[in-house]
Amino acid sequence: MNILIRENAISKKVKEIGKKINKDYKDKNPILVGVLKGAFIFMADLLREIEIPVEVDFLSIRSYNGKESSGVVRITHDLSLNIENRDVILVEDIVDTGRTINYIIENLKTRRPKSLVVCTLLNKKENRIIDVPLTYVGFDIPYVFVVGYGLDYSNKYRNLRNIGVADD
Ligand code: IMP
Ligand code: MG
Repeated sequence: MNILIRENAISKKVKEIGKKINKDYKDKNPILVGVLKGAFIFMADLLREIEIPVEVDFLSIRSYNGKESSGVVRITHDLSLNIENRDVILVEDIVDTGRTINYIIENLKTRRPKSLVVCTLLNKKENRIIDVPLTYVGFDIPYVFVVGYGLDYSNKYRNLRNIGVADD
């Protein structure tokens, strides 16, 4: 495992993003929507940097087998909150081809939120197939497969504190 982003750098970045959200959503009451499972640790840390009134919800999607994008995305667990006329911030671990987040955006738009933006910890822009606007980005990373801090390889390594490049 080669460490790409250390725990303290992640923590600093999460604080920065939290500050921006506090400023951008001052006097608002957004819903943070986490994309499971990968975003759960980022969500937990980001949420604790939010000082404005905020609500939290999650959805689960299935899009990957091992390291390969299947290109097929489906929601396996839906939101419990009604997002109609609400300010929604989608919280993702990583945007790679953009297919997953694009699918989720299109799906959530049909529920008529007042606003909908994406907050992703990691951005692998080299491999983008569908261009999606990313309002909050933690780190732009090269086209490597990363694990840790919630991100997995075949459901393992989510527990690692640093983000690293998985060995083959
Ligand atoms: P996309 O649909 O290609 O943008 O892929 C996004 C999803 O694939 C993310 O939500 C992750 O769950 C997963 N993914 C993409 N790249 C990585 C990686 O490097 N490590 C772990 N998961 C990844
Ligand atoms: Mg994910």
